[in-house]
Amino acid sequence: MASALSTDSAALDSCADCSWNPEGASFPEQFAWGAATAAYQVEGSWDADGKGPSVWDTFTHQGGDRVFKNQTGDVACGSYTLWEEDLKCIKQLGLTHYRFSLSWSRLLPDGTAGFINQKGNCSFKIESCAALIQGVDYYNKVIDSLLANDVTPMVTLYHFDLPQHLEDQGGWRSDATVKAFDTYAQFCFRIFGDRVKLWITINEPYIIATLGYEKGILAPGIAEPGTGAYQAAHNMIKAHAAAWHSYDRLFRKQQGGLVSIALISGWAEPFNPNSLADQEAAKWHMAFCLDWFATPIFLDGDYPAIMKSKISSTCKRQGSPLSRLPEFTEEEKVMIKGTADFFSLNYYTTRKVKYQVNTHSQISIFADKEAEEVTDPSWPVATGSSWLAVVPWGLRRLLKYIKDTYNHPIIYITENGFSQSDPAALDDTQRWEYFRLTLLEILKAIYIDGVQLKGYFVWSLLDNFEWTCGYSSRFGLFHVDFENSALPRVPYKSAIEYANVITNNGLIKSHE
Ligand code: GAL
Repeated sequence: MASALSTDSAALDSCADCSWNPEGASFPEQFAWGAATAAYQVEGSWDADGKGPSVWDTFTHQGGDRVFKNQTGDVACGSYTLWEEDLKCIKQLGLTHYRFSLSWSRLLPDGTAGFINQKGNCSFKIESCAALIQGVDYYNKVIDSLLANDVTPMVTLYHFDLPQHLEDQGGWRSDATVKAFDTYAQFCFRIFGDRVKLWITINEPYIIATLGYEKGILAPGIAEPGTGAYQAAHNMIKAHAAAWHSYDRLFRKQQGGLVSIALISGWAEPFNPNSLADQEAAKWHMAFCLDWFATPIFLDGDYPAIMKSKISSTCKRQGSPLSRLPEFTEEEKVMIKGTADFFSLNYYTTRKVKYQVNTHSQISIFADKEAEEVTDPSWPVATGSSWLAVVPWGLRRLLKYIKDTYNHPIIYITENGFSQSDPAALDDTQRWEYFRLTLLEILKAIYIDGVQLKGYFVWSLLDNFEWTCGYSSRFGLFHVDFENSALPRVPYKSAIEYANVITNNGLIKSHE
């Protein structure tokens, strides 16, 4: 399987690559070696110490077989009480960086600053409550112990777990959530920003919009095809921009950190490279995924032109003079443009893309796009995730695309990984081969393509609650035994290999 991957990649490389073997190369100095987690997926303690419910608490507690075996994140990896165990894993790997998310409703139970999670009586003034806030204490402990061990925290403010109270007011379909997010972000910058210098506002707005508000297969489970995703994305982009400006205006000078938004994207390769229609469709696929968010934030404050024109012409043909894609005002465009201090990319997979004619009978973002995604049957698929075709060379192409399209930004790969199905073997040799091939492509991106890549974060530190797959899909560098109430963490072979890479700041030459 590995050799099939290598051959595919080699065939796609240009001749200039052939003379250079990345295997013995070192990564740049100060390269960030990380792993990532998210609050709902690892913390558990879903209602401890006054934490409010998030949309994921509600979604999983409703049952209905939307999640594998109706599993929940109520306990997950128990990281809220077992943080020291996670820290041991981080130290064992030798990570330089650790990415984790804050649970918004652990800090602000109803999502607003009107109620701070507190024990005892104190005023609502954040400063005077800080010592009493349980959520703050927990995250302070995490941040302080990371720093004490020379591990740099990268903190995501919001990773899929919107406070339920805000969802009840319309969630991301409501403009009010923009303000609530900005207030929450300011709260976090104020409390943690003296020590946290790398911030991610929102994790994967594309996934939240399309799967949470368009298809309804992730929380909050809203199925509003053709409108839900566009509205949710519109408000998330504004919320991100508002938080970035708050940081810039109120905290940057004193705290000196960087703020970005984590964008997920696969790479799109034309199904038939000789077909003009497929070439266009591959571009549309990128426009409706990565560029939907990256164009306004990194380029000009507005959606990609092709996205606007495709949606509005479809709407006209469907008899509506108004586009289903909301418009930014001129003032908003100015506000949104340039609101990221680095490019945060989550990469998992690649697709071949075919032109798919829109008959206009169907109202959905996917019909608007007119592009069908196909997986090449020769690509291996991660055993724990049917969607995860393993295509390391796709990452290199995507990185080059980002360099060329978004003005050569500094990039961090803030998530990349491969799942095993449960039960998963500790000797995950094949999974490490995927990591190894991916790291080789990253080296080519850095040294041949000149991409400014500053770091790489494995998803995930631990096996955890993998959304609708529950605990059946294992992405961890450490195995977690969810049947054992002590939730022991044991390294997979990939963890040991990854630790070697970190120690050497490069791959060790294989002697096959
Ligand atoms: C990402 C998400 C993570 C994790 C990963 C693997 O989209 O940010 O939370 O679930 O996918 O599926």
